[in-house]
Amino acid sequence: MSQEIESVLAESRAFPPSDSFRAAARLGDGDEYARLHKQSIEDPSAFWGGVAKELPWLRPFDEVLTGPDGAQSRGPGVEWFRGGEINASHVCLDQHLDTERANKTALIWEGEPGDNRTFTYAELHTEVCRFANVLKARGIGKGDRVAIYMPMIPEAAMAMLACARIGAIHSVVFGGFSAASLQDRIADGDCCAVITADGGWRRGSVLPLKPAVDEAIKDQPRVKTVLCVKRTENAVAWDPARDVWLHEALEGVDAECAPEPMQSEDVLFLLYTSGSTGKPKGIVHSTAGYLVGAYLSTKYVFDLQEDDVYWCTADVGWITGHSYIVYGPLANGATMVMYEGAPNAPHEGRFWELCEKHGVTIFYTAPTAIRAFMKWGDEHVERHDLSKLRLLGTVGEPINPSAWMWYRDKVGGGRCPIVDTWWQTETGSIMLTPIPGVSATKPGSATLPFFGVDAVILDEEGREVPDGMGGLLALRRPWPSMLRGIWGDEKRFLETYWSKWPLTYFPGDGARKDAEGNFWILGRVDDVLNVSGHRLSTMEIESALVSHDAVVEAAVVARPDDLTGEAIVAFVIPQGEAGEAEAVAQALKDHVAQEIGKLARPAEIRVTTRLPKTRSGKIMRRLLRAIAAGEEITQDTTTLEDSTILDELRSGPKA
Ligand code: WTA
Repeated sequence: MSQEIESVLAESRAFPPSDSFRAAARLGDGDEYARLHKQSIEDPSAFWGGVAKELPWLRPFDEVLTGPDGAQSRGPGVEWFRGGEINASHVCLDQHLDTERANKTALIWEGEPGDNRTFTYAELHTEVCRFANVLKARGIGKGDRVAIYMPMIPEAAMAMLACARIGAIHSVVFGGFSAASLQDRIADGDCCAVITADGGWRRGSVLPLKPAVDEAIKDQPRVKTVLCVKRTENAVAWDPARDVWLHEALEGVDAECAPEPMQSEDVLFLLYTSGSTGKPKGIVHSTAGYLVGAYLSTKYVFDLQEDDVYWCTADVGWITGHSYIVYGPLANGATMVMYEGAPNAPHEGRFWELCEKHGVTIFYTAPTAIRAFMKWGDEHVERHDLSKLRLLGTVGEPINPSAWMWYRDKVGGGRCPIVDTWWQTETGSIMLTPIPGVSATKPGSATLPFFGVDAVILDEEGREVPDGMGGLLALRRPWPSMLRGIWGDEKRFLETYWSKWPLTYFPGDGARKDAEGNFWILGRVDDVLNVSGHRLSTMEIESALVSHDAVVEAAVVARPDDLTGEAIVAFVIPQGEAGEAEAVAQALKDHVAQEIGKLARPAEIRVTTRLPKTRSGKIMRRLLRAIAAGEEITQDTTTLEDSTILDELRSGPKA
């Protein structure tokens, strides 16, 4: 990390928006932006109340922000938009039906094999209503939890909106997770149904999903329905008492389904994310506050205009897919692109081919993808006409300045602002970001706090650190889309996010602020890895390793990786002779992939007989990190119980 901090410190390039971008932008006037931002901080009730009124309510709210100290409340337990009733699918669909947007394209979908489907707002509305009626017919209703385990097909978004329509709480599980991970999430959320597909296309072959569902729910009698979308031709096992094909269930189903009026604070969805300890956390999001955050950030961060074609390449299994594929863009009446497959299938220019084909104007992806594009070569980008692009975005991990510059020059033709957006599953919507028509962007910086965000850099004791110095990022003021809890675990919620400093949210990231107020994210400070923009807990990977018979103890750390940002290095103490464990390194990697999913597969297994520990028995991860990165150990090792261990770790077998 020290190297990264230095390279970031040396970065002084700044790119203000062009005059033409500024002139056409939704927010291109610096004074107007400053006025709005000031209001959002000084009078949040007036600001957020005004934003919320842009959404269609089924019953208007009485108050904007409430809690123990009324509109001044901070910390956990605040409420937004008390007294209001709203429905997320109504916000995303119905509100557009009486306008010219009814026949506007909402969704342009492209399958990996090249098949296409498009839906206007009116068509999407019909599909969602019918889907919702299928759920109702299976006895699913308000407050029930429904797991969604899907490929990137239109039905994934429809399933989410259909749940929202009837007030069921969706819990989307990324299709790359294993049966074991799916099972944990279904059990924790106490889901009564699973929506899945026979499979999806990934790099030219079918990735089956239904078998993982069958495996995940074999001991889950609570799951009464498995609704399966037919996407591929592969055969699936079938339990007629439980399994239903969506296309069969839809036959003759009514296209009318009134949206369920939901209280502002009713739960819209759960989304599981990794923490530093224990099992994944089911992050709870509310209905109204979440929608307000997703709506406003999409509108201003992406400068969304009526004729834009917007493409966010995330998977719906992550928060980015929730906020910036489904809820934010649809609440704004946008036209969006959704793609099923891999960026290099069938060739490494696939994304650019799709940008050209569909006339994409706004493109939002992750640094790990950008680094892969760089590696694959400029020719793939150059082969396509990307002149319609006008705005680029990135999310998920710190972006190195060289990748940022490549993105700007090669993809953006030097003319598109880049919005580097910092946020989390927990924050629900973008927190630090440039406003593209106003901000001077800097390679590697997420720049400034969004409306209503009071971000500071604190030390452990809660004192603000001077500009330029690294510290802990903190958010001091509540915001509408903030998480409302961890499903079933209030104690963990308070401990994880609200116990470091009084009434202040702790995101777990290190950062520094420069003299102009721009934020530079330095990465996680807890035991969470960020591999290809996916958050993984060291603890879960270690548990997966020790669940294998060949392993006695394991410690997992990250080392920097050019492509994936961080790569997983696992130090393992084998059962019996070291030689044996070396032979099973491959098996251990497969085992982790099997237990958690391919995304958690270690890049390297290092076999050792001991792990560096303090005298009190705590594993010294900072030493392991230095060893994994091949760095000299310059740190203090006096607390190490046995210093001969370092030589063994450095020279031990790797695989
Ligand atoms: C990291 C993804 C640097 C950060 C939306 C955060 C970033 C975690 C950025 C959340 C960014 C996200 N620059 N780091 N622009 N965006 N991160 O919950 O460590 O999957 O805490 O949400 O990703 O990951 P999550």
